[in-house]
Amino acid sequence: MGSQWTKDNSYVRAMREGYRSRAAYKLVEIQDRYHIIRESDNVVDLGAAPGSWLQVIRGLTRGKVLGIDLSPIVPIEGVETLVADFSDPTLSPQVHALLGIVNVITSDAAPKLSGQKSYDQARSLALGEAALSFACAVLKPGGNFVVKAFQGEDFSAFLQEVRNHFLSVRTLRSRTSRKGSSEIYIIARNFVSTNEAERSL
Ligand SMILES: C[S@@+](CC[C@H](N)C(=O)[O-])C[C@H]1O[C@@H](n2cnc3c(N)ncnc32)[C@H](O)[C@@H]1O
Repeated sequence: MGSQWTKDNSYVRAMREGYRSRAAYKLVEIQDRYHIIRESDNVVDLGAAPGSWLQVIRGLTRGKVLGIDLSPIVPIEGVETLVADFSDPTLSPQVHALLGIVNVITSDAAPKLSGQKSYDQARSLALGEAALSFACAVLKPGGNFVVKAFQGEDFSAFLQEVRNHFLSVRTLRSRTSRKGSSEIYIIARNFVSTNEAERSL
């Protein structure tokens, strides 16, 4: 069976299993391999609409779950949502007010694509960097972070930036990503905080 069949099949499977998008299986695959979310973790998902990662996360933890997106998210039971730009540096107090400590941050955020490759790659990279800044501001020391990235000329520098803040960093190309896509996920575990305030959380 060709891989394209498998990908179409994952869409059908997602609809049948009640997920809002086939992207759900990317997080399932990451969780199966790296166990980034534990059952009492508080989790923030960045770029969360329409909400299939939130559905997966809700099933993995009894902790609090918050999804943030520029677009509204149709409510999911037991999930808080915010319509906001996560690159806004004033967002972290609001996130702490809703969740208290944050153990895990996931980001599947992506910009609207223009079709112009180098422009789109630069915007994707900027979103990854914004997600990393958010994680550094909000994550509890020892916490985990997953971020979508795209392999291109600046990828290694971004990967190194992530390595500077976490003790263990891996990458994964998801089986569910579209054929020919340069999409890759960075899985970073064990956040090392350099911020005195975060150490006391
Ligand atoms: C591929 S979709 C995420 C799919 C989601 N993981 C799911 O499973 O349903 C990417 C999302 O990133 C969001 N996004 C892009 N830039 C953002 C930003 N600066 N702040 C918040 N959300 C953003 C987009 O609005 C879009 O909904």
